[in-house]
Amino acid sequence: MNRAKTALKRIVNRMGFEMVRIPKAGAPGSRPEHEITRPIATYSPWNRDAAFLQAHADIASHTLVDIYRCFELWQLVEQSAKLDRGSLIEIGVWRGGTGALIARRAAACGIPETVYLCDTFAGVVKAGGRDSLYRGGEHADTNRGIVEDLLRNRLGLGNAEILEGVFPDETGRRVEHLAFRFCHIDVDVYQSARDIIGWIWERMVPGGILVYDDYGSYNCGGVTAHVEEQRACRDRLLIHNLNGHAIVVKR
Ligand SMILES: C[S@@+](CC[C@H](N)C(=O)[O-])C[C@H]1O[C@@H](n2cnc3c(N)ncnc32)[C@H](O)[C@@H]1O
Repeated sequence: MNRAKTALKRIVNRMGFEMVRIPKAGAPGSRPEHEITRPIATYSPWNRDAAFLQAHADIASHTLVDIYRCFELWQLVEQSAKLDRGSLIEIGVWRGGTGALIARRAAACGIPETVYLCDTFAGVVKAGGRDSLYRGGEHADTNRGIVEDLLRNRLGLGNAEILEGVFPDETGRRVEHLAFRFCHIDVDVYQSARDIIGWIWERMVPGGILVYDDYGSYNCGGVTAHVEEQRACRDRLLIHNLNGHAIVVKR
């Protein structure tokens, strides 16, 4: 995705909309693999959660993720507080929006462990043949300073640590001794997502929650393919959420 497209996407997001590519119709009479999903439920607890709304307003200019998925992260971090132990980690931080939201919720829920925020700060890596849109280098319009400024100066958060570099290849060793209760994977492509779960799975505590962003997105076919590969694994529960998240819970 080029810079102009990323900027347009952010403007559209801020207006409360999501930019999606409408897939071409399949052969006449066939049912499409992708179509716009329109859930009919109307319950909207994010509108009544004052702490969330404030937190979201504080990070909205630093995220590409819509309010529904932000609220789900907010709620799932709270759920992970029921587990006895484990750090939290996000891979795919960009300008720090969802990472700061996770850190803020973790602090408010009394989770004592650190939230690790991992990014190359040089854009997407490991794009390949399984990926529908990404070619590598997208989302490089950020840097570590932007995220540090958001965390420390604007939000006053002291429970997050940045790991700069390709994860897990370059930075995994810094946290290899830890157990994890929560992991947000927002890396856009197949091979990165696959390498991350290959590294973190044995370090997730039972009941630990992994959230994949962009699952089901037409632009991120590699992420969807990677999640589908886990569907038959007996050591995890996999939930397809229509909002563009896949949620995996370790048994
Ligand atoms: C879509 S952006 C993340 C969006 C962010 N979560 C937000 O709140 O808007 C994807 C990010 O993943 C990073 N990334 C992709 N693969 C990575 C990897 N293996 N290690 C570290 N960062 C990675 C890219 O640099 C990019 O900043």
